[in-house]
Amino acid sequence: MNYRHHYHAGNYADVFKHVLLLQLIRAMQRKEKGFLCLDTHAGRGGYDLSVPSVLPDGKSRAPEHPAGIGRLWGATGLPPALNDYLALVRRFNDRNGAPSFAKASEGTAGEELKFYPGSPWIAKLLLRPQDRLALCELRPDDAEALDFEFARESRVTVQGIDGYIGLKALLPPPEKRALVLIDPPFETKKEFADIARGLRDALKRLPGAVCAVWYPITERARPEDFHHALLELATPVLFAELNIAGENSELRMKGCGLLILNPPWQIDREIRAVLPVLRDRLRIEPGACTACDWLVPDK
Ligand SMILES: C[S@@+](CC[C@H](N)C(=O)[O-])C[C@H]1O[C@@H](n2cnc3c(N)ncnc32)[C@H](O)[C@@H]1O
Repeated sequence: MNYRHHYHAGNYADVFKHVLLLQLIRAMQRKEKGFLCLDTHAGRGGYDLSVPSVLPDGKSRAPEHPAGIGRLWGATGLPPALNDYLALVRRFNDRNGAPSFAKASEGTAGEELKFYPGSPWIAKLLLRPQDRLALCELRPDDAEALDFEFARESRVTVQGIDGYIGLKALLPPPEKRALVLIDPPFETKKEFADIARGLRDALKRLPGAVCAVWYPITERARPEDFHHALLELATPVLFAELNIAGENSELRMKGCGLLILNPPWQIDREIRAVLPVLRDRLRIEPGACTACDWLVPDK
């Protein structure tokens, strides 16, 4: 496993994923009953953007967050869902807000963009007393960092295990309600097949689970076949995509998407309200576009 999320923290793909994750959590919380938020590929939890990204060969690489969260930071006139997201990132940057490493810093009260919350912290900052968070992370050092960060949180559990095993071990939860985020690194060609299997396992255990799967849009990882495999699950599936460049761009990753199985009511309308704004703020090249639609079998 070579993947380190620190290189990508706060990039356009993180912004897209975390804005939609926040919308999903808010939608789950429209019901009073608590739920389990299961993050199968949790990463490190939070990221210090001032630490340079250094590749295994010792070379440093340009940070990706300026073209992501950096383009929204301080922006005005945004739709409510993006203001909600920015307020959360500001809370994470507030020394009194979130992680121990941020607390120890000399930062201001959330005005300076120094830290970026990964999906575990996005979820943690939104948890109600009746909700729980379960985090799986296979990299021992990242799992250890997560464990340290959340050790004192009674409603958060951290497991250094394969996220797909986590799906089987943790579902169904006693609450009988779950939001599952599957956000793998796509380092191997079999990732889409693993996800399809994982989703089958998850829905067998909890047919009503809301499952969100992030995926990249690259030449190598074409989502169309994966979309077809999901139709076999006979569950409503919504997909949302953000492309920051056009079809013929030389960029390796032109965009990314999120598939949502069993999407909460009206989440499609809520996602459609933010996608054009994300496209306009985050585009890199001409041809940037978005999509949000239901997966339906080919006629
Ligand atoms: C894209 S990152 C996760 C980012 C995180 N969800 C966020 O939004 O902040 C993918 C993570 O999955 C971890 N990973 C890779 N294979 C895994 C597996 N089979 N089970 C659990 N974690 C895995 C990697 O170490 C990496 O930290």
